[in-house]
Amino acid sequence: MPNNLESEKSKKLWGGIFEKTPPETIRKIIDSFSFDFRLANENFDVVLTHSIALSELGIIPKTEIAKMLSKKEKIISSVLSAEKSEFEDVHSALEFFISKEIGEKIGFNLRLGRSRNDEVITTVHLWVLRNFYSSLLPAIKKTAVSILESANRNFGIIIPLYTHLRQAQPILFSHLILGYLEGFIRCVERFRDTLKRFDVCHLGSGAGSGTGVKLDVEKMTKILGFSRISRNSIDSTSRRDILAELIFDFCMTAILFSKIAEDLIFLSADEIKFVELSEEICTGSSMMPQKKNPDVLELMRGKSARFVGFVSSILSLEKGLPSGYSKDLQEDKIILFEAWDEIKNLLTLAESVFDGIYGRHGKISPHTLATDFAETLSLSKKIDYRTAHKITGKELKEKGTIPQEISYEDSIKRKVTPQSTNPNLVKKKLKLYRNIIEDLFKDISRFLEKFSEENFNARVKKYLG
Ligand code: ARG
Repeated sequence: MPNNLESEKSKKLWGGIFEKTPPETIRKIIDSFSFDFRLANENFDVVLTHSIALSELGIIPKTEIAKMLSKKEKIISSVLSAEKSEFEDVHSALEFFISKEIGEKIGFNLRLGRSRNDEVITTVHLWVLRNFYSSLLPAIKKTAVSILESANRNFGIIIPLYTHLRQAQPILFSHLILGYLEGFIRCVERFRDTLKRFDVCHLGSGAGSGTGVKLDVEKMTKILGFSRISRNSIDSTSRRDILAELIFDFCMTAILFSKIAEDLIFLSADEIKFVELSEEICTGSSMMPQKKNPDVLELMRGKSARFVGFVSSILSLEKGLPSGYSKDLQEDKIILFEAWDEIKNLLTLAESVFDGIYGRHGKISPHTLATDFAETLSLSKKIDYRTAHKITGKELKEKGTIPQEISYEDSIKRKVTPQSTNPNLVKKKLKLYRNIIEDLFKDISRFLEKFSEENFNARVKKYLG
């Protein structure tokens, strides 16, 4: 039994049969502390919860749990400021500083009935749920609101819808923007559905087969805020498909943003100018004084490329791995953290884009009214649409215009189907989307708030009495 904590610091958690450890050159590559330190806070809560289960078995005195909780801030800040080369991973750093602050009797017992394999997956689940609530969800909501506000602000502006990148039919610019919002809401729903799968506690899985220590897994699950215990310890410790799903959700959101960016770059081009971009989302050229470049939009489009890479990386990591933990899985966090930070950046970009777009009355081709004319002809004269289409086309070819004057306003008002660009319907949708956004975010917040640090602390305090 080691009893000199300091001498343990730069060693491994697995000292037993080893006389040598990997040299510094290799450790630099295989150690994960340089990136998994970000898990410190949630990892602490997982360790604390496991300690509660140990205290129930009389292995750790209950009084020490309160001590641990009161020293949390100090322990976490020691972990975060520790030299990254001194520890293998965040788990060993935490164990070291808990032992230092609370005593080795506690610290050296923390691994009883728990392996880093179930520790890391439980911690990652808690990290995702908690940080989604505190950091991503507010950013996502801001973006949704900014899209809706932009649809409101631009109500009344008519632009052409392009199909095959040729002017097709008049639409309200707001209708196009609400189309973006519809896609974004689907992204948010996808997040909600994926996050539900994170709501599982893996403690009790140990290294992969469970443990002989009679931990109260149900109690640990409840304290951490999870809805249920995982059903299979091998599955718990072997797979990262849920992370892959989350990273796919990030990617799909980034892809939507890239398509929106492409639309807006096109619609704001000098030759087109149906959209004006505010100066806040443009930059100039160092050489050409006249240039106003849509850099923010271009990066909103360009950044999606890396997300395709993240999805490809996590799937490649998962592919072909055997059951039971393999060290490959450590790489998941590099992908997760990078994707996480990037999606946050993208959301900030998207919010500023929607704050800075203004529709303009530009030059719409009167030919975009041809369908309205053909439809009217067919309905009023009771002739089949094929003939009406032919007559309209012939007129366009011979005279260059349609025979009857239809205004762009008339054109959009003529549309009557529920999902159409009819202004009365679009106006109603503006209200509808406000409610959809409110309900959706309320629903997700309600689900996620139980994972907040505040609520976790309250549950621990209640347990301690
Ligand atoms: N740093 C490791 C990871 O992130 C922790 C689990 C290590 N487990 C092990 N058996 N070596 O996956």
